[in-house]
Amino acid sequence: MKTFCDQDIERASQLLKSGKLVAIPTETVYGLAANGLDDNAVRQIFEVKKRPFYDPLILHTDRMEKVKSWVLEFPEPLEKLAAEFWPGPLTLLLSKSNQIPDLISAGLPRVAIRIPNHKLTLDLLSELDFPLAAPSANPFGYVSPTKAQHVLNHFDGIIEMVLDGGPATVGIESTIVGMEENQAVIYRLGGLSKERIESAIGPVEVKDSSSKPSAPGMLEKHYSPRKKIQVVDSKEGLESTQSLGAAYILFSIDPPKDATHVIQLSQTDNHNEAAQRFYDALQHWDNNPEIDTLVIERLPDFDLGRAINDRLKRAAV
Ligand code: TXA
Ligand code: MG
Repeated sequence: MKTFCDQDIERASQLLKSGKLVAIPTETVYGLAANGLDDNAVRQIFEVKKRPFYDPLILHTDRMEKVKSWVLEFPEPLEKLAAEFWPGPLTLLLSKSNQIPDLISAGLPRVAIRIPNHKLTLDLLSELDFPLAAPSANPFGYVSPTKAQHVLNHFDGIIEMVLDGGPATVGIESTIVGMEENQAVIYRLGGLSKERIESAIGPVEVKDSSSKPSAPGMLEKHYSPRKKIQVVDSKEGLESTQSLGAAYILFSIDPPKDATHVIQLSQTDNHNEAAQRFYDALQHWDNNPEIDTLVIERLPDFDLGRAINDRLKRAAV
């Protein structure tokens, strides 16, 4: 199969309406999309990704009215978050109406929904009367794609089309929020920081559900490159890692003197810039046959540093 890779939303829309898969750009990562109300189309997503059926999918749409037509209720704190941060890197868990196939929510009573912030994809979604189910467009367990090329590296010749919307501007998956006993809870740290959520609705708990994979984006091992990973916190830690096959992904520590394989995530200690470049850096070194070990610096644990550190922890298991 020839995989188209361009900006033709007319073609993308036709393919999706006929039950096919199209990779779509979002501000977080590229998604592998299909008609979220069509069981057969959704099933193909699981097959192509080799994703277990117990791992539920996120629905994407462009308008609040559409969201409301697919859920039973919209708790006030979540509605406030939606009003403030949609379109954006925020996914909400809402009680689903029976229009939504059980395959989407893996049989759970809540469905994950978000309005992504990407012009091409919003234009595409505005032409569709169904939501797009879209997990990150990578094989299950691997690093998420932030560029069209990352998607092609795995799915060229396997899916019909990649809608090329350029590099993702946020670069890390959406933050997932739901309610538990009238309290908002973060189930997955992501591109919308805990600090910004709390500035809108007050204190929220972060639930790390890695021990209980009801939210498998939180599985203990996930987001993993193939090469060995060493996490460092300090200059001293870095010194002990020097070897011929090492590549470095650093934030504020200077690289070892003779190191040639180095990516500095930000020149200005900027967490947003680091998030934008993080998955690209992982895949860049992972695809280089001269490299056997990725030495990666942990970020300070606030703002998007939290989400990056969370991915790093799971990638390094
Ligand atoms: O930024 C993102 O969220 C990207 C882009 C494409 O939108 N999508 C993404 O999807 O990261 P995925 O499938 O790689 O991760 C979705 C995660 C699941 O692994 C699961 O942890 C959680 O969302 N999830 C989805 N539906 C859920 C539900 N009903 N209950 C609990 N967790 C859910
Ligand atoms: Mg994923």
